[in-house]
Amino acid sequence: MIEFKNVSMQFSDDRYAVQSVDLEIQKGEFFVLIGPSGSGKTTTLKMMNRLISSTEGEIYIKGQNVNDYDIYELRWDIGYVLQQIALFPHMTIEENIVVVPELKRWSRNEIRQRGRSTFFKVNLPFSMIRTFNH
Ligand SMILES: Nc1ncnc2c1ncn2[C@@H]1O[C@H](COP(=O)(O)OP(=O)(O)O)[C@@H](O)[C@H]1O
Ligand SMILES: [Mg+2]
Repeated sequence: MIEFKNVSMQFSDDRYAVQSVDLEIQKGEFFVLIGPSGSGKTTTLKMMNRLISSTEGEIYIKGQNVNDYDIYELRWDIGYVLQQIALFPHMTIEENIVVVPELKRWSRNEIRQRGRSTFFKVNLPFSMIRTFNH
């Protein structure tokens, strides 16, 4: 569960990117944030994994304040699809897929399994698994 309690991000004396947000997202819920450009969607998302700090209020993930998490562990557990491409061009597709399991020091076997199952999930041809992004 993700909870925002009276969360604001104030960037100057009288200007807020996000002001007094309260929300609760349940485990497994499909939650969509919709709003015009400049309404604070990106700031709201980035405050969840502390890419941007809130200036007021509290954010909890699984009952724990995001400020009390080890920042790396917090970020490794949050998937984030960027608008711009963000692959490591010097690494194979497989290596790109397993960046976080590598950082988390999963076993070789678990890493290989996850790389492959992810590949199959998105229907990429398996012959591409060791190819590069250029
Ligand atoms: N650090 C900042 N300094 C100045 N303005 C900011 C800053 N962060 C966000 N803003 C402004 O806050 C508003 C919300 O931004 P943003 O979260 O990117 O909106 P969205 O993703 O919904 O388009 C925008 O008007 C943006 O220009
Ligand atoms: Mg945005």
